[in-house]
Amino acid sequence: MEEMAVEILKKFNQEHIIDWMNKLNNEEKNKLVEQVLNLNISQVVDLYNNLSKKFEIGDKKIEKISVTDIDKLSKDDFENHKNKGIEIIKNGKYAVVTMAGGQGTRLGHKGPKGTFKVDLKDGDKYLFQIIVESLQKANERYGVIIPWYLMTSEENNDQTLEFLEEHNYFGYPKEKVKLFKQGKAPLISTEGKLLIGKDKLIKEASDGNGSIYKSLKVDGMLDDMKNNNIEWIFVGGVDNILLKIVDPLLVGITVNQNNKIASKSVVKTNPRERAGVFCKIDGKPGIIEYSELPEEMVEEVDENGELVFGDVNILSHLYNIDALGKMADKVMPYHIAVKKSEYLDENGNLVVPEDKNVYKFESFIFDAFSNFDDISILRVKREEEFAPIKNAEGNDSPETAIKLYNARI
Ligand code: UD1
Repeated sequence: MEEMAVEILKKFNQEHIIDWMNKLNNEEKNKLVEQVLNLNISQVVDLYNNLSKKFEIGDKKIEKISVTDIDKLSKDDFENHKNKGIEIIKNGKYAVVTMAGGQGTRLGHKGPKGTFKVDLKDGDKYLFQIIVESLQKANERYGVIIPWYLMTSEENNDQTLEFLEEHNYFGYPKEKVKLFKQGKAPLISTEGKLLIGKDKLIKEASDGNGSIYKSLKVDGMLDDMKNNNIEWIFVGGVDNILLKIVDPLLVGITVNQNNKIASKSVVKTNPRERAGVFCKIDGKPGIIEYSELPEEMVEEVDENGELVFGDVNILSHLYNIDALGKMADKVMPYHIAVKKSEYLDENGNLVVPEDKNVYKFESFIFDAFSNFDDISILRVKREEEFAPIKNAEGNDSPETAIKLYNARI
């Protein structure tokens, strides 16, 4: 075993890890060997050596995408779509997935983001609790118990489980709640080297919300959904306290438009809002993240003076089960973030870098949309459906989100 690990490390020019290994006691060494054998080092080193393979707009053709504006639906169409969705939900064919694998670093909350508490007009509530209450309301309305799947990460799975147990799942039937872990990837220094963390193992981190497709399959959730006759799956973020996680209108529109995937948008408040925007990428549906939208497109307006890329992603996605299955087997492109990360040097001393020192590879959930020719995008009203909590203060903070929430109830 140890020899195999040494071979792998040599092959990928990570000899410093071998030196480190030799300084460890037997128990520590065995753990590291096991980690090396299970890590996808080749992929990460390959990504490092080919940083150009990352997701890039390059010469891709970026165009405006059409959306269905909720305000422009006729009364008949609205009812028709909604009734279609209600039928599906009432027949027990609908499930909800919450992505809660992120770290919430920007918010400065210690612990899984879902355990963050907000002081609302109708009481103090944890973010997880708000989600459970929405599910409970829908269950009452439609006479079902909607299965709830929660994506966690290596970093926060145990804490999430403990928290839910401690709060008795906020009264949700425990057998209808399933946790699954997203993927992770090693961090690599800007010099192309793996790093050792405080636990004396190679440093790893969650590899972005795009790992959801593979994780749903690998962790058996997709089969679980199939066994429960689920056909439509809603996937949402954890931090939007106005997120409508059970919306028959979205389901009905998607079915009636003959699509397998759907998502919701709101109109951008200003061109520089830090949110992904819907578009067509080489003719296929897509989203470009705020950090990657080419500068000349940020403020581009059409003949009516509206932003060409002005429909914001609010992390409210819907999938047919076949679509989820299809995406589980696709390779997702990686986006690269340069971050600061502390590590142990060759003598085991902690190094706290002053500058960014590592590449973090992340896949984005919406990159998988390119596997489809079309998508239903429902443009909804911001004040009704989008109150995200991202930052401790300022924009998209608890303060702004609570205001929006209190105005709705
Ligand atoms: C995300 C969207 C952005 C959108 C914005 C709206 C992505 C990649 N970006 O950006 O287009 O406009 O929300 O609020 O979707 N998560 C995981 N595992 C991870 C990383 C994230 O489960 O490894 C989850 C988080 O827990 C959260 C969601 O994905 O529920 C979004 O993550 P976050 O880092 O908050 O994304 P934003 O940068 O805000």
